[in-house]
Amino acid sequence: MEAFTRSLAQLHVAGVPVDWASWYPDPKPRAAPLPTYPYQRERYWISGPGTAGTDVRAAGQDPLGHPLLAAAVPLPDGGLVATGQLPAAGGWLGDHTVGGQVLVPGAALAEWAIRAGDEVGAPTVEELTLQEPLSLHADGGTRVRISVGPADPTGRRDVSIHSQPDGASGWTRHADGVLAAQTEAPPPDDRVTWPPAGAEPVDLSTFYAEATGAGYGYGPAFQGLRAAWRLGADLLAEVCLPEEAGDPAGFGVHPALLDAALHPALLIRDTGDGRVWLPFAWNGVRLWATGAATVRARLSPHTDRKALRVELSDTAGAPVLTVDSLMMRPAAPSRLPAHPHLYTVDYEPIAPAGPVAVEVARVAPGSGPAPAAQALRLVRDWLAAHPDGDGRLVLLTRGAVPVDGAGADPAAAGAWGVLRSAQSEHPGRLVLVDIGDDGDERAVAGAVATGEPQLAIRRGQPYRIRLHPATGAREQEPPRLDPDGTVLVTGGTGALGALAAEHLAREWGVKHLLLASRQGPAAPGANRLRERLAAAGAEATLAAVDIGDEDAVVRLVAGIDPAHPLTGVVHAAGAVDDAMLDAQDERRLATVWRAKAGGAAALHAATAGLDLGMFLLFSSAAATLGSLGQANYAAANAYCEALAAKRRAAGLPGLAIGWGAWATAGGMTAGLGDADRARMRRAGVIPLAPARAWPCSTPPAAIPPLTLSPPRSTRKRWPVSRPKRYRRRCAASRAPPARLGVPRPPPRRRRPTGPPASPRCPRRSATASCSSWSAPMRRRCSGTGTPPASPPTAASWSWASTRSPRSTCATPSERRPGCG
Ligand SMILES: NC(=O)c1ccc[n+]([C@@H]2O[C@H](COP(=O)([O-])OP(=O)(O)OC[C@H]3O[C@@H](n4cnc5c(N)ncnc54)[C@H](OP(=O)(O)O)[C@@H]3O)[C@@H](O)[C@H]2O)c1
Repeated sequence: MEAFTRSLAQLHVAGVPVDWASWYPDPKPRAAPLPTYPYQRERYWISGPGTAGTDVRAAGQDPLGHPLLAAAVPLPDGGLVATGQLPAAGGWLGDHTVGGQVLVPGAALAEWAIRAGDEVGAPTVEELTLQEPLSLHADGGTRVRISVGPADPTGRRDVSIHSQPDGASGWTRHADGVLAAQTEAPPPDDRVTWPPAGAEPVDLSTFYAEATGAGYGYGPAFQGLRAAWRLGADLLAEVCLPEEAGDPAGFGVHPALLDAALHPALLIRDTGDGRVWLPFAWNGVRLWATGAATVRARLSPHTDRKALRVELSDTAGAPVLTVDSLMMRPAAPSRLPAHPHLYTVDYEPIAPAGPVAVEVARVAPGSGPAPAAQALRLVRDWLAAHPDGDGRLVLLTRGAVPVDGAGADPAAAGAWGVLRSAQSEHPGRLVLVDIGDDGDERAVAGAVATGEPQLAIRRGQPYRIRLHPATGAREQEPPRLDPDGTVLVTGGTGALGALAAEHLAREWGVKHLLLASRQGPAAPGANRLRERLAAAGAEATLAAVDIGDEDAVVRLVAGIDPAHPLTGVVHAAGAVDDAMLDAQDERRLATVWRAKAGGAAALHAATAGLDLGMFLLFSSAAATLGSLGQANYAAANAYCEALAAKRRAAGLPGLAIGWGAWATAGGMTAGLGDADRARMRRAGVIPLAPARAWPCSTPPAAIPPLTLSPPRSTRKRWPVSRPKRYRRRCAASRAPPARLGVPRPPPRRRRPTGPPASPRCPRRSATASCSSWSAPMRRRCSGTGTPPASPPTAASWSWASTRSPRSTCATPSERRPGCG
């Protein structure tokens, strides 16, 4: 019988389902968690203040032993200044971006205030109001100062937080507040079953992807939210500290953990209005235990729903941190990038390298699609002649990209569209170099030697190409259009064209719309669209026109009622005919070119001499990123972008937006299946909701409005201005350790975090990925507080194998974040 039971157990361990209920008679035995991992990892390096600490003392300061705050200087009046040096925007802090900008999370500022308060016996943050976001820079560190004033007669102290980037002279005040002594007793342990009865699970599978779409960039270190539930108005969550965020030791509460515990607030706060909400005012912040790496969070909206109560407890229900009230507010517009989805393409001068021998092919100047077609032929022929994958071809164009805000030749830009797609399909085989004049050819070999895949050379100076988050005022007025005028929307019966027409009517107050497409009034849904526009206050005329037909476009524009003259153009007509490079040909190019580039050229010509307030071209990120299989589409879009730049250079209105994917039901992305969309999401392509997309169509005047709403993958493939470390995610297979809070001796009133979580974890990771987390738990479960001095023995293995950890550490939690 024992042998049979053992066999059953082996099957069970191997993952075979066993009906234990029928095997065991009543009373059924209690399920026991899997044994802990027998080996202890122990660090033998001497920790402690180290050299930095020694230096700090030598400089008359006290080491703080805090990962971000190095030292404190007690002041004669009883106050104190805590100081720290934040690194350049990298590391785990670099994983917290808002609108593409690395911002130190408000949770870090709250944590610093607590830590500074600890030093003066005032560890309760009565209030902390954030004034300015603290942004980190790619090219240098930032000094921070937490200044705590002397105690007033009630024991309260002012606190303020300032920063100064390296090399700067002034200081920026980021937060002000008041610290007070700890007078309250810790709240009682919350020993309810977890999650509580009636809690409704929240699907988090797309949470971080959608947060990115909304402008919150949570990198791996900040993706600690593991599970969430709704319970009435409350949100409950399980949060762990991802490995990427480093060790919680030294922090009161690790900012990445506290920040992630606040992420469920987005489920309340997402107003869909494109605004980014950030913690603003903290009240009554009390830290009860330190060093937690896994917490349960409860966010309870106050009755006015303007603020939240926040309670963090460890996995046994013991309190870790409470916040009486946390108020969020939209980030100050002027302090954030123009729009989280807007990027500009910039040209950065670089030093040439030692010249290399290069094989060069020239794309001849031409008009219309001719350079694009020639580029296609050149690349296809060269690739066919070099099928072994060897060699590298430099493609030379002239005037294809607008360096220094100068206009570009749209036809040459079309060639770049083709070539960028070709680069994506054949990585490492092609280099694009755009020159200004013949003299620049001498600099080609040195420029190519830099290893940059796309370069421009002007007056002998090589430039590399980078994406930068657009900066400037965040909210921008739409262009002023004559209210009696007409706006022509090409592709106006298509998915985005119809949305554009509605947006123009509802938001911009346009009263006369001319919607042009080949099907015109016969397009599906045309009547309903006309009705919707009428309800929005606009009279719509639908015209059946091939926008690539120059004469037809001239007639269309000439036929506009002079009482409502043409005042703006939105060119949203477009077509796709995707194929990989070896299946691309001039016929496919011509089809796609006609609607998009041909249409743009025809509109440009037909409206010459008219007083337009807007000339908006719907382009695609494909033009800049060079999508696979879209050489023709990228070419046509690149033409549009260069045409917009050329118009601006000539003092005419011109804006081309290189959209990423839109989150709409129909349109060009309608053919994508669930698998395609899932693949896009995995690659980081986050469709943009219309509410978030429209603000992009009015970029700040200060930026060159060649913009992208780039898919997130852009940042992986393209160098951006603030390089970010793309570390592996906290994937289920590499789950973060579920370390628990440990007592920290110095702060006087802290008590240890409660007993650790159950070392159970889902079977598939029981032996491998979870081994790293169970070791510290066993150590703490054993109650010794220190790891065994000697390596594990057979006895320790047997202890780990046979003894239920439940018997040594009573824990209610059966879930283990990160492994599921
Ligand atoms: N959807 C996205 O996620 C996305 C992303 C990036 C960029 N874009 C750009 O946004 C624009 C609209 O895309 P969409 O998704 O709304 O596509 P869509 O639904 O297919 O609409 C395209 C429109 O263009 C019209 N059209 C095509 N060829 C034309 C021609 N020769 N003359 C006149 N009209 C023509 C079509 O109507 P007829 O067939 O009746 O002519 C249709 O109304 C396109 O320029 C596209 O490149 C879209």
